[in-house]
Amino acid sequence: MNHEKQEVHDFWSQASCGEELYLTDADMAGYTTQSDQRYALEPYILDFARFREARSSRILEIGVGLGADHQQFAQAGADLFGVDLTERAVEHTRKRLAVFGLNSNLTVGDAEHLDFQDESFDRVYSWGVLHHSPDTPRAIAEVWRVLKRGGGASIMIYHKWSLVGMMLWVRYALLGLRPLLTLKEIYAHYLESPGTKAYSVAEAKQLFSAFSAVSVKTVLTHGDLLESGAGQRHRGGLLSLARKIWPRGLIRRFFPKAGLFMLIETRK
Ligand SMILES: C[S@@+](CC[C@H](N)C(=O)[O-])C[C@H]1O[C@@H](n2cnc3c(N)ncnc32)[C@H](O)[C@@H]1O
Repeated sequence: MNHEKQEVHDFWSQASCGEELYLTDADMAGYTTQSDQRYALEPYILDFARFREARSSRILEIGVGLGADHQQFAQAGADLFGVDLTERAVEHTRKRLAVFGLNSNLTVGDAEHLDFQDESFDRVYSWGVLHHSPDTPRAIAEVWRVLKRGGGASIMIYHKWSLVGMMLWVRYALLGLRPLLTLKEIYAHYLESPGTKAYSVAEAKQLFSAFSAVSVKTVLTHGDLLESGAGQRHRGGLLSLARKIWPRGLIRRFFPKAGLFMLIETRK
C-alpha cells in the first residue's frame, strides 16, 4: 500500500464512517439504531440504492463501512459481495450481518485493484468511498471492468460546489487567515480522510465517460443544512452557533444544488 492509501486506511481504521456519532453498541440494537439514524438523515439513499430490486442480482458494494446499506442488500436477497480497505469496516459488517442471520461475501480489498474477474456483477454500488481513494479514476475504471455489459453502477462521490465546502473554506481559509487555500486543498485536508476529493458535475461526467449513460444529481445533505453532528472531525462553539441560525429554508429554496453529495447512476 502506498503512503497516501495508508493514510486513508489509517484514518478509517480509527473509526468507521458514523461509528463515533451513531453507533452505541456493536449488537443488534446498536446496528438498528445506526441504520434508523442513517436513513432518517439521508433518506435519499433508499431511492438511490433501490435495495428492494436487489433480489437475486449479483451485487458488489465497494466501501461497506459500518454495513447499513450492505445489510439492506442482504435482506433483499442479493447475491452479495462487499469490500472495504479496512479490517475494521469488514469486521463490523460481518458482525452486523451475523447478528441478523444474513450472508455476504466480505473481504478486505482495494477499490483500485478489485479482486474479481471482468464482467462479474449486475450492479456495483458505492456510497461515499471512491473520492477517498488516491486514484479515483482508477477505481472508476475498476467499477467498469467488473460490471457485466448492461450492468448498472450507483456511485456517490462528493460535489465540489457545496455548502460544506464553503463552510470549511470560511473556517480554515478565511478565519485561519489563509485565504489562498483552494477548495481542493480544503477537501483534501479538512473534510475526512487525507486526500479526499470533490468534483464538479462536469468533472464527474468526464470521470464516468467510459460508461454508456450517466445521470448526475446533487443533493443537499444534513451536513450542508447543519442538521446533524458534522462528521468525525468538526466540533466547537462556532459550529454550534451556526447550527442555531442556519437559514435552512432559504438554502433549500435558492441553493438546492449546492449539496455535498453527487449521486451518479450509470450503465456499462
Ligand atoms: C465515508 S466511509 C463510507 C462507508 C459506507 N459506504 C457508508 O456510507 O457509511 C468511506 C469508506 O471507504 C473505505 N475506503 C476508502 N478507500 C477505499 C478503497 N481504496 N477501497 C475500498 N474501500 C475504501 C473506507 O475504509 C471507509 O470504510
